[in-house]
Amino acid sequence: MKRIFAFFFTLLLLMGLCGCTVSAQGATNKKTESLARKGEQLWAEEVANRQLGEAVTITETDASLSYALQYPQTGYTAVDERIEDIVTEIRNAFEQEYLSSDDTKSTLLLGYESYLTDTDHLSLVFFETHETNDTPSPHTRIRIYHFDLSEGREIPAEELQWEGFAENASAYTQTYFTSTEPYAQRIFGNYQTLLAADAGRFDRFAFTSEGVLFYFDRYDLFPGSMGIVRLVIPYDALRTAAAAPQENTTFHIGSSKKMVALTFDDGPNPVNTNAILDTLEKYNAKATFFDLGNLVEKYPTVVKREAALGCEVGSHSYQHDNFTKMTAAQMKEDIRKTEAAFQSVLGKSPSLFRPPYGAYNETTTALIPMPIALWSVDTLDWKSRNAEAILKEIEAAGNLDGKVILLHGIYSSTAEAVKTLVPALQKEGYELVTVSELIQEKYGDTPTVGKAYTYAYFQ
Ligand code: NI
Repeated sequence: MKRIFAFFFTLLLLMGLCGCTVSAQGATNKKTESLARKGEQLWAEEVANRQLGEAVTITETDASLSYALQYPQTGYTAVDERIEDIVTEIRNAFEQEYLSSDDTKSTLLLGYESYLTDTDHLSLVFFETHETNDTPSPHTRIRIYHFDLSEGREIPAEELQWEGFAENASAYTQTYFTSTEPYAQRIFGNYQTLLAADAGRFDRFAFTSEGVLFYFDRYDLFPGSMGIVRLVIPYDALRTAAAAPQENTTFHIGSSKKMVALTFDDGPNPVNTNAILDTLEKYNAKATFFDLGNLVEKYPTVVKREAALGCEVGSHSYQHDNFTKMTAAQMKEDIRKTEAAFQSVLGKSPSLFRPPYGAYNETTTALIPMPIALWSVDTLDWKSRNAEAILKEIEAAGNLDGKVILLHGIYSSTAEAVKTLVPALQKEGYELVTVSELIQEKYGDTPTVGKAYTYAYFQ
């Protein structure tokens, strides 16, 4: 009896173990498969820019850390050893960063592009993205390594830059991005600072057969919807003397008084928008609020106070959808709902439209019954959430006369920054005006439906 019992017990235990093992294995396979699919999607964009090497793929998952990596095997032994070391370094740094935070699941995604020149120069470009609990970070870290294939040697980027390299790249990129669409409409107002020769943006490049390829990070020069921006500059253009610095061609026929427009998106928010309004009221200053239709319905008293203080109230759509991804019918419906919200609260239509993500196209411009107003100084307040950092961004933009500053009405850090910013600007002689006033008084124009007032306009 005892023996039989023992036998059944062992059998049960074995069955249990088997079942357990099988289901765990199944889950792991599923996880690895979905990770592999994610990698495939990511790498698909890079494949066209892989001029050397066979891709090695690694997909690994465990309880907390996962990896989807691709890197090239070039067939040059010394180079391949170094590449494997680089991948190990990237993995180790990722492990260090996330292993201690044990209640989160983190994934390292790594892909690459490789460029070959006819002088046997290999530029290897790694794209590194981290995901935490299945939420991808919007930021991709780009690392570039250079190799002389015939010597099997890695070359530091500094050794590859010639005299005037950064200066010529700076002049070329400024001219190119301010005269070529879609960049000219979207480049941030402080691009001269961002693209200065010594701003560090020309130290990272790949040599290609067509020219020197520069990468500009997402959110670095353009709104995030533009993604990572690549620009190839022909070798000749980088070797000849820098072009004369660009003249500011905006012809100011309006007021000679210094004017700046503060704009607050994504509100209203009962706490933080009111804190901003307290400051504006205290200093008798005006600003423009680009409010969301659904929040206008929810917090009507805040919107009424904005208008009562002489501020301009524009629309930022009904619920912050991307207008470049909507059909004409969807846009019309969004416009109708937003218009109804403004009419019921303010008894009038919004005066301007700022598209969510700064994203709009010809259909948007044709359909929106308001002038479209963008900005020219981005404070990145949504990212830093730090009053001091916000003030630093604005300071770095230099002369603010005629500029439109992008802020968000929903963060306490922004409200905190505004307490310092408003009196500081007034002390420097700036009049704080609404966007429509700026267009009229500074630029001598009338805000016009069907027209977009872009980054370049508010220079
Ligand atoms: Ni927004």
